[in-house]
Order: sequence, then C-alpha cells, then structure tokens
Amino acid sequence: MLTKPAHKPKRGFTPDIIVVCLICLLPLLWLVWRFLQNDLGVNPVETLVRQLGVWGLRLLVVGLLITPVARIFKQPRLIRWRRPVGLFAFAYVALHLTSYIAVDQFFDWGRIWADIVKRPYITFGMIAFVLLIPLALTSFNAAIKRLGGVAWRNLHKLVYVIVPLGVLHYFLLVKADKTMPLVYGGIVLVLLGWRLWRWIRRKV
Ligand code: HEM
Repeated sequence: MLTKPAHKPKRGFTPDIIVVCLICLLPLLWLVWRFLQNDLGVNPVETLVRQLGVWGLRLLVVGLLITPVARIFKQPRLIRWRRPVGLFAFAYVALHLTSYIAVDQFFDWGRIWADIVKRPYITFGMIAFVLLIPLALTSFNAAIKRLGGVAWRNLHKLVYVIVPLGVLHYFLLVKADKTMPLVYGGIVLVLLGWRLWRWIRRKV
C-alpha cells in the first residue's frame, strides 16, 4: 500500500512534471533536428515512422513502470508522472500513424485499408492505437471527475492490452533479428506479472 500523503498532493504543472514533459519532448526535437539536417539516413521516411513508433512504445513501457517503482520505493508522488508520460506516448503513436498515412502511403486510403486488413502487424498496431484514444481523451481532470474514480481506473486498465499489442505489432513487423521486440516483450511481461502477483495477493 502507498502511504497516504500528509498534506494535499500538488496539482498542475509542478517543476517535476515540467521536467518529465521536457524529457518526453527531447526525442521529437532530436528527430526534427535530424530531419532539418538531412540526417535521417538513406530512407528518411522509414526512419521517421520507425523512430516515432519506437518512442511511442518506450513511453508506453515507461508509463507501466511508474507504478511499480512508486510502490517499491514508496514514492507516491511519482504516480503523477503517468499522465504526462501516457499523453506523450499517445502523441508519438499518433505522429507515427500520421507519418505512415501522409509520407509513407500519401493518403492512399485504399492501400491503407488493405494494409490494415491484410497485414497482421498493421492490424494489431491499429487496434492498439484505437484503444489508446479513449485513454488520451479521459486523461484530463474534468473527464476523471465525470467518469468517477472506479470507472476511470477500469477504463485505463486497457493499457494492459494496448502495450502487449504494441509489442506484438513490433514483433510481427521485424523480419530478421527479433531480439528487441523480445526484450520489450520480456519487460512488459515482468511489469504485468508484478501487477498480477499483487492482485492475486490481495485476493487470497
Ligand atoms: C500503440 C500503437 C503502436 C506502437 C506502440 C507502434 C510501435 C512501432 C514500433 C516499435 C515499430 C518498429 C520500430 C523499429 O523498427 O525500430 C513500428 C513500426 C511501424 N509501425 Fe507502428 N506502432 C503502433 C501503431 C501503428 C499503427 C496504427 C500503424 C499504421 C496503421 C503503424 C505502422 C507502422 C509501420 C508501417 C512501421 C514500419 C514498418 C517497416 O518499416 O517495415 N504502427 N511501430
């Protein structure tokens, strides 16, 4: 159990939240910088799509990591970092999808639809993205108030499906060396296993 804070927790853009936002923004700034410098390699479009996807996945995993770290190290204030990290993860994945639609497929909706139904890795990526939308839309205080704590927490458990789908998307699209998707898969398994273990312990 997290210890109850002795005083009311701070809200809004406290310095730690601003630092978290700036850190989450760095990969995007780095990508924009490389793009402007013409430094995205021989296939800049592929690099752009892939880098945005991989940062989306990394931030989703970091989002899953925050609760165990906060509980194990008894640092409840870290829980507040989940919201900016989750919103940045959504932003990276949305940019990943946008860059795929705009600069990879040139808004060819027929081809995009064919990709979604015929290529399993795109199907799973798309399902993960669609499931992320309600989470992003309800990541604001007004939505949390409106839904109520229990419904909000239940809705946000969707992340336990979204992140494995993101990893599956990655695993299926990589042709030769599957090491990295397997590493992400292992980390996600441990993070979800930790939650399952706590849930079982509460029940028995
Ligand atoms: C939560 C959702 C998603 C996550 C976490 C995610 C993550 C990733 C990752 C990690 C990669 C591989 C990067 C690398 O090789 O270094 C990738 C590649 C890719 N993703 Fe996603 N993705 C998501 C959704 C989508 C969606 C919705 C689409 C399109 C409909 C999409 C299309 C692609 C494409 C086309 C590639 C590159 C494939 C290639 O170059 O061969 N992704 N994504």
